Amino acid sequence: MPVVRSALLRPFVLAGALAALNAPAADAPAPAEADLAAARAVVQQFAAELKNALGSAIQAGGPVNGIEVCQQQASGIATRAAQQAGFTRVGRTSLKVRNPDNAPDAWELAGLEDFEARKAAGADPATLERAGIVALPGGGHEFRYLKAIPTAAVCLNCHGSTLKPEVSAKIDALYPSDAARGFAEGDLRGAFTLRKPL
Ligand code: HEC
Repeated sequence: MPVVRSALLRPFVLAGALAALNAPAADAPAPAEADLAAARAVVQQFAAELKNALGSAIQAGGPVNGIEVCQQQASGIATRAAQQAGFTRVGRTSLKVRNPDNAPDAWELAGLEDFEARKAAGADPATLERAGIVALPGGGHEFRYLKAIPTAAVCLNCHGSTLKPEVSAKIDALYPSDAARGFAEGDLRGAFTLRKPL
């Protein structure tokens, strides 16, 4: 896990267009516009492909069928999207994870908590993002990007408070420590997370 400088974790206070981004540490460069643009494009593509795959699977065989998409196809879709733009990781994380492998690291945790605070203060979840340059323990730096994922109606099939018994049974079997239930439409479900060595 990369060491996150505490300056990157401080609450963000600037106004205007930069408000969506993390304040750069005094001794670290600000994220490059090109990296930011690439990250936004990858997230857009990942989100669209995932939504399509999920929609078709649910249409074809109900939400139980969609579980496989989320479980197995999401990482493949993410990897393809990442390789196109030189990112070493494209994934999803959350404060309440279904798959423990998706648990946030320190930088992601700070970002997710910041998103919750900004949402509570009235921000539109669809606009929440955070970018930063983080020092790596072995030297060098890494560009990181986090983009909030709001909960849509279709997500409630598997992340809502009341799941169909067959959906619940399959999720219980695959994810014994599942914490990703009880969401309502409009809640922050989590975030897309990207990283790229600089
Ligand atoms: C058909 C069931 C199903 C539906 C519908 C579904 N998910 Fe998931 N979701 C899952 C499963 C299964 C996982 C665990 C994937 C894994 O193993 O990485 C998951 C994981 C996630 C994660 C990664 C963090 C974690 O909890 O492990 C996010 C974020 C997420 N889902 C968001 C959404 C959003 C947003 C929607 C609606 C657009 C949605 N999901 C719809 C089943 C579903």
